[in-house]
Amino acid sequence: RDRYVVIGNPIAHSKSPFIHARFAEQTGEPVAYDRLLAAVDAFEPTVRAFIAQGGRGLNVTVPFKLDAHAFADRLSARAASAGAVNTLKVEADGSVTGDNTDGIGLVRDIEVNLGVALAGTRVLLLGAGGAARGVVLPLIDAGVREVVIVNRTASKAAELAAAFGRTGAVDHAGDAYGARGTVLGGGADIACGAFDVVVNATAGSLGGEVPEYGAHAIAAGTLAYDMMYGAEPTVFMRDAAARGARVADGLGMLVEQAAESFSIWRGVRPDGAPVLAELRALLG
Ligand code: ATR
Repeated sequence: RDRYVVIGNPIAHSKSPFIHARFAEQTGEPVAYDRLLAAVDAFEPTVRAFIAQGGRGLNVTVPFKLDAHAFADRLSARAASAGAVNTLKVEADGSVTGDNTDGIGLVRDIEVNLGVALAGTRVLLLGAGGAARGVVLPLIDAGVREVVIVNRTASKAAELAAAFGRTGAVDHAGDAYGARGTVLGGGADIACGAFDVVVNATAGSLGGEVPEYGAHAIAAGTLAYDMMYGAEPTVFMRDAAARGARVADGLGMLVEQAAESFSIWRGVRPDGAPVLAELRALLG
């Protein structure tokens, strides 16, 4: 069997071994997938030792996604744009390619599992940290017409938007921002109508807090998506449901980013849906 791991600290809680074991069964690929705990200051030697022992690829989680970005010999466009790597592939010549499958995982969960086609839509992205950065290019690549980024610290939203080209202030009197979205925020009520999808990429749900965003951002038909997940709906989901949105958590994104990693390594795309259903049942 070819060896893969998810590396992180802590790592005991990771659901990735469960997901990849299901994918291996489903596809018949000879994959062995384990957890690998690295000391916070020992990412590189731990990865080098794993590769020296024949390891073929790694998923990378907290706190090592920036280390993995620095470690890779080359980066995919989406990893470069995310500024972070969650998937390392050891190539036949021993060099290591870094990719980031988080954003495409979100896109696939929304499109395939939730049935919302993103082409031509308007997406409100809440947050401007690493999680938000990672999904901007995949959303644009999916054909999203506008990505409006709103963040508690507005300057970070503006910086993130600027990194993707067009920016412009949200005009409270009208929609004066550029086609691929700008941004502004800091909790201000952006006067630009309802969105097709609102994505919570802030760390707010961890502390039970809902990020501020405009009351009119949600209309009937809006999908409110929290990248976090748990046994119970997050506070963001409860709040958005009360505003009339259809809601989803990030469990499907977790499964779909794993499916993309698996397909990068093996050239075969597993079906995420049955694994998502099984995980959902296990969450209780
Ligand atoms: P991650 O890699 O998970 O995105 P991060 O880079 O630390 O983590 O970014 C956290 C994001 O969540 C930021 O956008 C942060 O807003 P600030 O830039 O203003 O710090 C946002 N965030 C965290 N807690 C929040 C809260 N309680 N309400 C709103 N936004 C919050």
